[in-house]
Amino acid sequence: MKISDVKEVFRNIYNRDARIYIAPGRINLIGEHTDYNDGFVLPAAIDKHVIYGLNENGSNKYRFHAVDLDQTFEAQAGKLIQADLGWPNYLMGVIDQLNRAGHDIPGFDAVVTSDIPIGAGLSSSAALEAGLATGLNEIYNLNIPKLDLVKLSQRAENEFVGVNCGIMDQFASVFGKSGHVFRLDCRSLDFEYFPLKLNGNGIVLVDTRVKHSLGTSEYNTRRQECELGVSLVAEGNAQVKSLRDVTRDMLESVRERFDPVVYKRCDYVVGEIDRVQKACEDLVAGRIEDFGEKMYETHEGLSKDYEVSCEELDFLVDFTKKDPDILGSRMMGGGFGGCTINIIKETGIPSFRENVSEAFKNRFGHPPLFYDVKVDDGVRQFYE
Ligand code: GLA
Repeated sequence: MKISDVKEVFRNIYNRDARIYIAPGRINLIGEHTDYNDGFVLPAAIDKHVIYGLNENGSNKYRFHAVDLDQTFEAQAGKLIQADLGWPNYLMGVIDQLNRAGHDIPGFDAVVTSDIPIGAGLSSSAALEAGLATGLNEIYNLNIPKLDLVKLSQRAENEFVGVNCGIMDQFASVFGKSGHVFRLDCRSLDFEYFPLKLNGNGIVLVDTRVKHSLGTSEYNTRRQECELGVSLVAEGNAQVKSLRDVTRDMLESVRERFDPVVYKRCDYVVGEIDRVQKACEDLVAGRIEDFGEKMYETHEGLSKDYEVSCEELDFLVDFTKKDPDILGSRMMGGGFGGCTINIIKETGIPSFRENVSEAFKNRFGHPPLFYDVKVDDGVRQFYE
């Protein structure tokens, strides 16, 4: 659906004009499950978006219409209750956070559509939150700084939706910059943009089109396992506040106190935090092959130690190992389905797509989907 269509739908339903906001999804080159451990990530916003048509309605009602689902939802200001439908919770979560920050949000109407595939690990939910937070901030002149919009969008998901996600996705949706990835220090929230130059290689996303239902509960469990690990290491090292403060030697020295599962979770995270730093050096120096190797290491850790991969993702990553045009491949995002991210020589992309499509279909009964994405700017109002 195009922006002009959103305007038209809004006009048809609400008989007024809308202001348009677009919020991107994201990719993440490396640094998975590190954000909520105060580590580093290397994401970028992409040219797939949630599009909102928004405007005040002069009442105390919030009226939402999701074009793609053809569903409508209504809520009353001051009386937000979790909805069974699912998607309205991302929107109400944002209003709830604005209320908690002391902002009254009078009634408004929203039409929303998205071309970010849901459940593919491209952060459609963060885009829903960041888009609404930004739109309401501007419509009601709240003057909330961008970083606070990121934080409240994350809290909306933590508290209203119930997914204890880290800050990466909302950050990328707000601070993305065309042509650039950025390294985010999830502790200090300092970040640095790097031009995404892949020296004749391209990024291809391959979507398994599966989303295993365990995703959310296992995600929250991983967070708890990391926290448990931190508390064990912190017993003898009071300065340890998160896995960011932990080295492999420190972990090793208290290994006998660890449950083996918790140990391997922490071992993965500690290794990954370090790997992102080195991978950034590779990227800046143009060592794309070394960068790709690190993506494979990340996948190995996510699959064997962190155990958030699945058969379909592992199959896709293994398949790439036979193809000399592929420099790196790994699952991306929270896991249990969704996409792999692959760095491939431009010239090898068509044959890779053909081969992997056939092999995947033979194995799982359906072909994967492919997304060609460009690295885009963060959330913004759209003007004609
Ligand atoms: C999801 C979460 C992020 C991050 C990734 C894993 O996308 O929303 O905060 O934890 O998983 O890296």
